[in-house]
Amino acid sequence: MKIEILTENTVNRRGFLAEHGLSVLIGAAGRRILFDTGQSGVYLHNAGQMKADLNGLDGIVLSHGHYDHTGGLPEFPPEQLPPVYVRERAFEEKMTGNLDKGTLREIGIPWRGGRGSEKGAASGAGFGTAPGLLSLLREKGLLRFTGEREEIFPDIWTVGGIRAAVPQEPLPNAFFIRKDGRLVPDCMEDEQLLVIRTENGLAVSAGCAQLGTLNCPERVRQAYTGQRLWLLLAGMHLRGCTEERLDATVEGLRRCGFQWILPLHCTGIEAIARMRKEFGEKCLAGEAGRVYEL
Ligand SMILES: [Fe+2]
Repeated sequence: MKIEILTENTVNRRGFLAEHGLSVLIGAAGRRILFDTGQSGVYLHNAGQMKADLNGLDGIVLSHGHYDHTGGLPEFPPEQLPPVYVRERAFEEKMTGNLDKGTLREIGIPWRGGRGSEKGAASGAGFGTAPGLLSLLREKGLLRFTGEREEIFPDIWTVGGIRAAVPQEPLPNAFFIRKDGRLVPDCMEDEQLLVIRTENGLAVSAGCAQLGTLNCPERVRQAYTGQRLWLLLAGMHLRGCTEERLDATVEGLRRCGFQWILPLHCTGIEAIARMRKEFGEKCLAGEAGRVYEL
């Protein structure tokens, strides 16, 4: 399995760029899949620096409908676009912030259309727009809405339906969607994992794990009973979490028995440092520009 980190929150190499976002090129099971696109064209810049070829990809998987995972897609060369696998609900109007203080801001897919038209999409929120991307994907039959468990290629699945199964990981309360004009909590039903069966076991990729770092492998365990968990690549959304939560995450991951853990993006520096300490060399560092062949 080859992992090329194109966009990540940190960088440590000359000529590379970082941004708050995630984009990883994954080669496994005979396919090449782009997992998320960051929030801008940074992933393309870094791919150029790394000589990572984005032509002839088998697919692009979008983990969920937030700007920092999907915003770069309009920059992808249109003539080279492969099928894009995404949950339909990723296209809802998504917000975050404090409802009581009125500090909500839009964090959804910048090119989703939404309020008004594609041209005016989310322009009020200061997003760049990509008139026509959605139409282009639809016209070319490249927009593939995934189900709860979809085998997109042999041994490669998208897996949604992540539930709050682990007591230490309740549903997040800072995310909202607008439904029939009203703001309601976003239960992140658009979140999906990329699961690849390798000869060593299952490789699980999560974009932000907003539903909980442990709830992700829990979902995989339920869907792939008895199969070995081999690798976890994930934004783990642990910034500013309590010590108890971090303890539970570390213990839970240990129980999962992963051979490799690659914490990225929204995991947060404290949590990454802790995992590195706990798991030693099994915990890989994930700056933009890193390449792993495992
Ligand atoms: Fe994110």
